[in-house]
Amino acid sequence: MNCQHQPIQQNDNLDASSVLPYCPKIRLGHAHYLYVPSTGSTNDDAHALIAENTPHGTLIVTDNQTKGRGRHDRRWASPPQTGIYASLILRPTRPLPKATLLGIAAAIAAVQAIWQTTKAKAQIKWPNDILLHQRKIAGILTETDIQSEKSYAVIIGIGINVNTPYTALPERIIFPASSIQMELGRRTSRPLLLANWLVCMEYLYQQWEEGQTSDIIAAWHQSAYGLGKTISIEQQEKTITGTLQGMAEDGSLLVKGTMGERIRIISGDVTATSFHS
Ligand code: BTN
Repeated sequence: MNCQHQPIQQNDNLDASSVLPYCPKIRLGHAHYLYVPSTGSTNDDAHALIAENTPHGTLIVTDNQTKGRGRHDRRWASPPQTGIYASLILRPTRPLPKATLLGIAAAIAAVQAIWQTTKAKAQIKWPNDILLHQRKIAGILTETDIQSEKSYAVIIGIGINVNTPYTALPERIIFPASSIQMELGRRTSRPLLLANWLVCMEYLYQQWEEGQTSDIIAAWHQSAYGLGKTISIEQQEKTITGTLQGMAEDGSLLVKGTMGERIRIISGDVTATSFHS
């Protein structure tokens, strides 16, 4: 990996000429970089671009979303000029069922990029919420556009609250919303952080394409929130409680139930942990 540490320019813009000089050697983002000052949702724009045959590695970035979307049809608050709101389009060559891990890879890349840029150690709350000091500072929305079994595109939508003040963020009771600036007490360069995410993402994507999934799983274990602790996972109709043991090769969560039974979880949200205050 070749992530950079120091800003080489002082602007905080997210257009191509502000971001790409930080990551000259990679493919992602360079294929087609589309910056718009404001949009509804970059994931929606990504779907439209896929329909127009946009290439692998296309990146759509904005400073402001009016209809930012989160997982489970939730809204993603996107206050202007303070965060990173971006969607990366991937056109994988591996079969579709393996693509679940790409969202996990994007979360790992976010943790690595935050570390490279700020030296702060963020964590991943399964499946792909990014926490700093147990507060949610970023999220990932992965969507798939399927043309045929062999031809499909994956959209990795990432929202990072970078220099966002508390007042611009929604209230959440557990794992409250926060930003990198609110947690660290200093500003972070958005273009540098985005470039570092692309660099880390490119590395992990390559690993995924080459079938090195165990390396991705190992990287996840290094940053996973709640490992070895009692956690609750909320699903549509039930809540499962148990000890978080790890992640399987397909990205599902491995939990030991209260009766000692082994449970594999493929969907849901970690909503509480025994050590969460
Ligand atoms: C979540 O935690 O629920 C996922 C949030 C994902 C937000 C990003 S911002 C860029 C992209 N466009 C969207 O509308 N959503 C994703």
